[in-house]
Amino acid sequence: MRDIYADIDYVLIDEDKLQTRIQELADEIEADYQDKDDLLLLCVLKGGYIVLSDLSRKMKRPHEVDFMGVSSYGKETKTSGEVQILMDLKSPIAGRHVLIVEDIIDSGHTLNYLRRTLLARNPASLEICTLLNKPSRREVDVPVKYLGFDIPDEFVCGYGLDFDEIYRNLPFIAVMKPTVFAHLKK
Ligand code: IMP
Ligand code: MG
Repeated sequence: MRDIYADIDYVLIDEDKLQTRIQELADEIEADYQDKDDLLLLCVLKGGYIVLSDLSRKMKRPHEVDFMGVSSYGKETKTSGEVQILMDLKSPIAGRHVLIVEDIIDSGHTLNYLRRTLLARNPASLEICTLLNKPSRREVDVPVKYLGFDIPDEFVCGYGLDFDEIYRNLPFIAVMKPTVFAHLKK
């Protein structure tokens, strides 16, 4: 079997740093929503599943979770700019306080599209929480309320983030060796 740990070049954000920062975000969110009985954490699949599960378990207040699947890059490491909804939410969000939970904002196209799509459904409020942000790659401006870490322009894996569907289970954020991407066309 393939050893995915052997594909790691270096760890960019270790487990301790991730957990500490997610606890801070959970505290911040709980404080901001303390006057609201309703809170729906909307996980953007697939990449958001680990940050959602850690963030959710670090909160003590009641909240619901729901899931939305959006298209990924496939075997590319850059966005096509086109976003597709692969799986929609289970329930309507009209009148609800919705917090989108994403793994990473890169060009901004995914969250921009999601935000516009969800705003059209008339939620009471709609905010964005993303674990990672690559500011140098932004193509469209998206208002992010809760941000874990700014990172440099590197393709990262782990903690929900994949390359070609692999590496999501690494418990930290890592940069993979160039050999992993060697077959990609320039
Ligand atoms: P955007 O539409 O360019 O902002 O890209 C957002 C989506 O692309 C994220 O939800 C991720 O699924 C994926 N993505 C962007 N950068 C990376 C990366 O460095 N590693 C893995 N996936 C990434
Ligand atoms: Mg994603």
